[in-house]
Amino acid sequence: MSSEKTSYSLDLDEAKIPSHVAIIMDGNGRWAKKRILNRVKGHERGMEVVRTIVRTSRNIGVSYLTLFAFSTENWQRPRLEVSALMSLLKKFLVSERDELHDNNVRLNMVGQKERLPGDVKKLLDETMSMTGKNTGMVLNLAISYGSRDEILQMVRHISKRVNDGDIKLDEINHKLISNHLYTAGMPDPDILIRTSGEMRISNFLLWQIAYSELFITRTLWPDFTEQEYIEIIKDFQQRDRRFGKV
Ligand code: FPP
Repeated sequence: MSSEKTSYSLDLDEAKIPSHVAIIMDGNGRWAKKRILNRVKGHERGMEVVRTIVRTSRNIGVSYLTLFAFSTENWQRPRLEVSALMSLLKKFLVSERDELHDNNVRLNMVGQKERLPGDVKKLLDETMSMTGKNTGMVLNLAISYGSRDEILQMVRHISKRVNDGDIKLDEINHKLISNHLYTAGMPDPDILIRTSGEMRISNFLLWQIAYSELFITRTLWPDFTEQEYIEIIKDFQQRDRRFGKV
């Protein structure tokens, strides 16, 4: 990461850099299968791509980058794959923390922290507190994240506040709902990218992506490049966003 603009970013319209980019990083398993490799090799290569896309996002001025690293459903994968993904996360949290910090990136997590193994939680807490005051970009890792679960927790929380007399029923509005989600205080994603060609949202940020621009690429996540990412942002900059108006 560097504060200097790289040559490709000169082609971008600086006034229309997306504030928030969200990515469903799909296709690691298929990438490995095509090469007759273990699925974990696909996740390892995927982690390299995470590093590239974090750097690029920071360099071009994205304020929030949300990456779907592990879903609530992913706990049902074979035990060995789950533990390999947790190990990769730990590796990432250690190997990247200095670079994140040096580049003013704040690490945040969205998801069920309480379900994570103690050692992952510890490294996450350490990296989040080390980078906690950084203001250049927020890297949101979605880990043990599921949007329906997030919405369920929000409904319970708001209902309790109504029950307790803390808020009135007619004070429940869009803003209050947003403020009770993991992404409280953040803008909604401008762009949602999904790699590997599947035409699904897979329980990711269901409330938050109401007006996000969707980009689905057939590229498998381990093959996703900085160039393709920049092309997507250029395409986004050409789109006419009307938010339901004319
Ligand atoms: C989906 O591919 C990807 C995941 C479930 C995990 C994403 C993890 C990484 C990119 C690496 C680790 C990330 C960090 C932040 C350290 P899939 O396995 O569902 O692929 P398939 O659909 O082809 O089987």
